[in-house]
Formats: sequence, C-alpha cells, structure tokens
Amino acid sequence: MSSSHPPSPRSTPNMTPSLALIIVGVVVMIAGGLGFTLFIPMILPPQASTQAQQVDQLFTFLLFFGGVIFILVEGVILVSVIRFRAQPGDLADGPPVSGNTTLELVWTAIPAVLVTVLAILSYTVWINTRAIPANEMSVGATAARFAWTFNYEVGQETLPTTLNFGDLKPEIQADLTDEDGVVHFNNPKLYTWVGQPVVMEMQSQDVNHAFWIPAMRVKQDVLPGRTTEIRFTPTMAGNYRIVCAELCGSGHGAMAGEVGRDGELLGAWLIVFENEEDYLANFFDPAAATVLVPPDDPALLGRQILASGAYPCATCHTLDDLGWTGNIGPNMNGIGDRAAARAQTTGDADGAAYLEHSLRHPGDYLVPGFGNLMPQFNPDPGQPNYMPQSDLDAIVAYLLTQTANPSN
Ligand code: CUA
Repeated sequence: MSSSHPPSPRSTPNMTPSLALIIVGVVVMIAGGLGFTLFIPMILPPQASTQAQQVDQLFTFLLFFGGVIFILVEGVILVSVIRFRAQPGDLADGPPVSGNTTLELVWTAIPAVLVTVLAILSYTVWINTRAIPANEMSVGATAARFAWTFNYEVGQETLPTTLNFGDLKPEIQADLTDEDGVVHFNNPKLYTWVGQPVVMEMQSQDVNHAFWIPAMRVKQDVLPGRTTEIRFTPTMAGNYRIVCAELCGSGHGAMAGEVGRDGELLGAWLIVFENEEDYLANFFDPAAATVLVPPDDPALLGRQILASGAYPCATCHTLDDLGWTGNIGPNMNGIGDRAAARAQTTGDADGAAYLEHSLRHPGDYLVPGFGNLMPQFNPDPGQPNYMPQSDLDAIVAYLLTQTANPSN
C-alpha cells in the first residue's frame, strides 16, 4: 500500500521578462519582418505594370506586419516552452491562471487597429488599380476550351500609314470606307506597348475560365453569358505568360503560355513592345496585311488564316503542314480524304459541306474517342467565336487539300 500525497501546485514563477529580453525580442521582430519583405518578393514574377507596383507595395506592407506578428507569436511560444518547462521530477500542476483584463484589451485593440489600417490600404489599392485611365486601348478576349483568342478592333484612321491602300483589293477598300470603317483582327497573342493602358473585355464561349497575367498582377474570372473587365498598364517591355486560373477541363493546362523547344512562344502570351512604333511594325503590319491583302487562291488564304493563329485550332489538333501537335481533338492529317467519305454517312452534300457543318456545329459529329470539346464557330459577329463565312470557306478549301499522309 502506498500513501499518496496530492502534489501541491507549483508556485507562480516570475513571469516578468527582463528589459534585455524585451529589447532583444523587439529587435528580432523588426529584423525578421524586414527580412521577410526583403527575401520573399524575390520569388515573385517580374513587376511589369503600374498595378503590379501598387499590389506589391501592399503585399510588402502585409508581409512586414505578418512577419513581425509571426515572430512574436512563435517567439513567445518558444520562450514559454523553454523557460517555464517542468524540472525533472516535478509532477506538480502549473499555477492557476485566471483572466487578465489588461492583456485581453491589448490583444483585441492592436489587431483591430491593424485590420482597419490594412482594410483602408487594400481598398485604396483596389480603387487605384481599377481606375479608368484616359486613352485606354480595348482588347476583346474570348476564352474557349482550350485557348484564348484576342480580338482587336481598329478604325481606318488608326491603320498604319505604312500600309499602301492603293495595293488593296477594291472590295476591301470599299469595306474600309464603310461608315463604321472598322477592321477586326483575331490573334492568339495579346499585344501592346509600354505605357499604354489596356482594358480587357472578356467573354467565355463555354465554361468558367480565369484570365491571369502574373507579371501584371491582374486576375479576373471569365464567365459564360457575361462580359468581365480587367485593366493594366505595362511598364516594362517583354513577353509575359498568360495563364488560365480556373480548372476548365482536360486541356486547362494548354490555356497558358509555354516556351517551345526552340525558344518559341507557344499558346497565350502578352507581348509588350518598347513603344507604339515597334508595336505597329511588329504586330500590326503583318496582322493588317493578312486581313487587308489576302491571297486570291482560297486554299492559300485558308492556310494563311489558320497559320496566323486567328482561330485556336492548333491547341487541340495535329496537322503536320502547319506544325500543329495538339491531341485533344482528332488528327487533321489527311482530312481531305476522309471528309468526302464521312459526308456519305452524315448526309452532307460533299466533303466541303461536311467540313463546314463540323465547324459550325462541332457537336453534331463526334469522332469516336473524342469528347464534345470544340468551340462552335458562329457566323454572326455579335456571337462569341465569330468566324466570317469568307474565313470558313477558305479554311474548308484548305482542309480539302490535306489529302496526303492519312492517319487517324
Ligand atoms: Cu480555361 Cu482553365
């Protein structure tokens, strides 16, 4: 039998920290907070827009206070564990602790003040980064599984003067002198220049996507049935990845810019030129020439349209003639041979009619093994994924010439 004496509670140790400990603690907290703000931003993408500067300033500020509080909390835990640990053989209970009104007031008041300050700062940055600047350039963006298409609307008066209008075909000259005189360009890349504010007007053709340019620090959902906007003003020339930030299906990863084996830019990229002259010379002239001076042969024109990337076909299809290597949709090699044969089973008049039907209503004929993932290309400019009848005729003419190397 053993008699047990309940251990008496340990006496309260002296919990007042020495002045030296307080000074060391404060120095460590501030140095640590500054350390966080110094090193963590190094892993961020380049800061390449006015919005990015403001977002990063706010982030750095949050990082400093977050760092100080992190070190304070972890430091107090560490000191408590070491300094007030039980001695060997000491089985006594800890000293009873009841409330401490002063402490509770302090730890409520300080976070309340901090959160209020952070809310005001965040709101200011939110308002500033969304302010509508003068002279902004509007670019449309259409998200469709699985590619981005950017739509540029250019008035005749802003067409580059380097284009010789005397060389244009008469019907195109006539188009340009229409009352609205607006030329539409589609391009899979987003182009602008340093200092030019851009507003994106974004629509989705199918499911939810999200438009994100990490270097610009902008991200916005793109939703079917709605137009959403985002603004940025680049401050640095360069090539910046565009990323889809919403899981949208099996090809979600293909909606981001990638660098190919030879350093070429594949998929969605923002290209920021040094100035407007470079922009006009490098993007605008070739793109305008494609639209304004098309070749006579429809098959050549169709090849030029597809090679320009105006439509996102390369993401999903393979076609050796254009260097496409996508595998989300059927292989297009030898499609010219297969189209005529397919037309006999689908009831279309001929191969051309079958291809046209497949572009306008891709869900009608699914090649076995492939899902209904292809965007529907619409004949009306007001609809998403607009494909004018002239483009469609040219593309069909070109695809019908793809008879060699049948596969699939
Ligand atoms: Cu579009 Cu993910």
